[in-house]
Amino acid sequence: MNNFTFYSPTYFVFGKEEENNTGKYVKRFGGKKVLIHFGGGSVVRSGLLERVKNSLQEQGIASVELGGVKPNPRSGLVYEGIELCRKENVDFVLAVGGGSTIDSAKAIAAGTVYEGDFWDFYMGKPVTKALPVGTILTIAAAGSEGSPDSVITKEEGMLKRGASGEAYRPVFSILNPALTQTLPAYQTACGITDIMAHLFERYFTNTRDVEVTDRVIEGLLMTMIHEAPKVIENPNDYDARANIMWAGMMAHNNAVGVGRSQDWTSHDIEHELSALYDCAHGAGLAVTLPANFTYVMHHDVMRFAKVAVRVWGCQMDFDHPEVTAKAGIEALRRFFISIGMPKNFAELGAKEED
Ligand code: NZQ
Ligand code: ZN
Repeated sequence: MNNFTFYSPTYFVFGKEEENNTGKYVKRFGGKKVLIHFGGGSVVRSGLLERVKNSLQEQGIASVELGGVKPNPRSGLVYEGIELCRKENVDFVLAVGGGSTIDSAKAIAAGTVYEGDFWDFYMGKPVTKALPVGTILTIAAAGSEGSPDSVITKEEGMLKRGASGEAYRPVFSILNPALTQTLPAYQTACGITDIMAHLFERYFTNTRDVEVTDRVIEGLLMTMIHEAPKVIENPNDYDARANIMWAGMMAHNNAVGVGRSQDWTSHDIEHELSALYDCAHGAGLAVTLPANFTYVMHHDVMRFAKVAVRVWGCQMDFDHPEVTAKAGIEALRRFFISIGMPKNFAELGAKEED
């Protein structure tokens, strides 16, 4: 195991109706003037935004609003948010939505207190300072509710790039699985795929003897395989939603990635796809993960065989471990198709000439 530091200070609040306590948590973390940031309208339609605003009002906390975050969030709205925060003396950014909204909120939080262009952070400058960010998560997927990362697309050139820094860890995140029950099956499946991708990107490592994180990742993957069909079948299955939501956080706050090298090739390729074709991140990963694994499995065939046996229950072929490795990749491919994910580039809308 490699040396590592791990600091994950987010205060997690998990369970039914906890969004009604938002005001209390904003107050606890020092917010007096809040930017409420949200997406294309799901939180308006579900009544969540109204409940959050009421909760802030109950605590006497002032707020301004900025909606309109698109999936694969764009830099244009980030610049707008930075301007608004400066004009209104905002001291706390509250994201109400999915990974796109949270990532946009993080970018605004860092950009507001930075004299240069916020895009510098997405060109490699570490994020060391930002306004505090709180989140109310509505989709289990990106893991941004616990991660030190944010991914933004710059319209000029459609560059999709990530930024990182401990200042990007939310100070609190409210996770109420019931809020994810309004998700269409396709978005639920995209989220499930992304969570599994975050686990695989960490599992496939060159670092030896990392049994503790290997075993936790395997357990999380098996949980996803077990719970996913339940929520696709019945979107109101609270307990299955709850297991998936917490797995999504655990998959990406890096508790299972410490002390080991990580891959992220499938993600890097996917980010180019969602930048070019504006496909859902999870849908892109359903295509890039099995394809990339087929390409790289010979680099460490025993590790691919190990996950095939331990997670997918494949029979180990000691004479031909590549047969077992391939069976595991096939099981993954079939699983993604079974939950309604695309199976190839064409289904994502990718064009041959690109
Ligand atoms: O915009 P609204 O109207 O809210 O609709 C959203 C959006 O259309 C909808 N939705 C979310 N919650 C809902 C709901 N619809 C009904 N009921 C609900 N409860 O779902 C759609 C997708 O939302 P989005 O926020 O885009 O999803 P996700 O959480 O998958 O975020 C994807 C983004 O996160 C980035 C991805 O690249 C992509 O840009 N990632 C961020 C990471 C991070 N910050 O750590 C890591 C990931 O690997 C990923 O790259
Ligand atoms: Zn991802």
